[in-house]
Amino acid sequence: MAESLITERLVSAQAAEEERGEELRLRPRKLDDFVGQDKVKAQLQLAIEAARQRGDALDHVLFFGPPGLGKTTLAAIVAAELGVEFTQTSGPVLQIKGDLTAILTNLRARQVLFFDEVHRLQSELEEILYSALEDYRLDILIGQGPSARSHTMELKPFTLVAATTRAGLLSAPLRSRFGLVLRLEFYEPEHLRVIIERSARILNVALDSAGAEVLARRCRGTPRIANRLLRRVRDYAQVRAAGHITAQVAEDALRMLEIDQYGLDEGDRRLLRTLIDIYHGGPVGLETLAASLAEDAGAVEEIYEPFLLQQGFLQRTPRGRAATLLTYQHLGRTPPAAAAAGQAGLF
Ligand SMILES: Nc1ncnc2c1ncn2[C@@H]1O[C@H](COP(=O)(O)OP(=O)(O)O)[C@@H](O)[C@H]1O
Ligand SMILES: [Mg+2]
Repeated sequence: MAESLITERLVSAQAAEEERGEELRLRPRKLDDFVGQDKVKAQLQLAIEAARQRGDALDHVLFFGPPGLGKTTLAAIVAAELGVEFTQTSGPVLQIKGDLTAILTNLRARQVLFFDEVHRLQSELEEILYSALEDYRLDILIGQGPSARSHTMELKPFTLVAATTRAGLLSAPLRSRFGLVLRLEFYEPEHLRVIIERSARILNVALDSAGAEVLARRCRGTPRIANRLLRRVRDYAQVRAAGHITAQVAEDALRMLEIDQYGLDEGDRRLLRTLIDIYHGGPVGLETLAASLAEDAGAVEEIYEPFLLQQGFLQRTPRGRAATLLTYQHLGRTPPAAAAAGQAGLF
C-alpha cells in the first residue's frame, strides 16, 4: 500500500502505468537529443566511437542514479548509436535460470542487453552472469546428483547495459564487471528548460520561455517529473487560460497542485514536518521515520531522500536523518536556538 501511495504522487519520479506510452513519444532517440549529463555523454560517445571503429562489442555499462533521470532512455540510445539490436529485461522479471540462459544464448553479436533494476537480480542468477560478462561463456549444469555434468556454451560478444537506483546494493563481483560505471545527476534548471521546451513542441503545447522556466525549477531536477508537470499544467491552461502556458499560469497551476517553490510536494513536506514536529529535527533512524510515515524504508531512501539531501533539506548523520536550518525556515518553524546560532553539531 505504501508503494502505491508513492507512485501516485505527482512528483514521484516513478513512471505511472498510463504514462508509459506518452513517455515513449518524449524519449530522445539520439545522443545529440539527450540534454544535459554532459560528463556521462562524453564518456559514452568516446566508448561508442572506439567500439565502432574496432568492430567490437562495447564494454558493459552500468547507469546508476535516482529514478526518472534517463537511464532507460540512455540504454536505448546506446543501442541506436551502435546500430545494434536492443533486448530488455529486469531483475524482478527474471525468476528462473532457464529464462536468463535463454536470453543470453539468443543474443546477437554486439547487441545490447538492457537489464533494468539489476540490484534486484537473485544471487543465483547473478552468478550465471559473471562468466557471461567476462568471457561470453555460460557454464550450465545438466542433470542432477552424481550424474550431473557441467557444460560450457559460447555466447556472442554482447554489451550488457544495466541500470539501478541503488548502486550500493550491487555486489562487488558484479560491479567489477562493468567497464563504464556512470552516475546520473539531478539536472540543472537550464537543461530542464530545454527538455520541457522540446516536450512542449512534441506535445503541441503553447508554452512561453518564462513558463518553461517556472516548470524547470519545480520538477525536482528530474525530466520525468518535468514532463508530467507539463502535462498537468497543460490541462490547467486548456481549461483556465486558453491553452497558453505563461509563468503566471504555471505558478497558478502548481499552487493548485500543491507544489512549492522548491518543487516539493505534500509528501516531501509531510516527511520534513514529521522529522521536525515528532522527532524534534532528528536525528532519527530511517526505519523509524519511514514507519511514522507509513512508507517503506527502501522507498523513502530511493524516492524522497535523494532530492531532499541534494537540496539541503535533509542531512544523513551516523545517528540517522536530521533536519537543517533550511528545513525549519521552509516550513515556517522556529529552529532550536542553538541551530539558529549555527552552534549545534548538526548544522
Ligand atoms: N536527458 C534527457 N533529455 C530529454 N528527455 C529526457 C532526458 N532524460 C530523461 N528524459 C525523459 O524522462 C523520461 C524518463 O526517463 P527514463 O529514461 O525512463 O528514466 P529512468 O530509466 O532513469 O527512470 C523519458 O521518457 C524521457 O522522456
Ligand atoms: Mg528506467
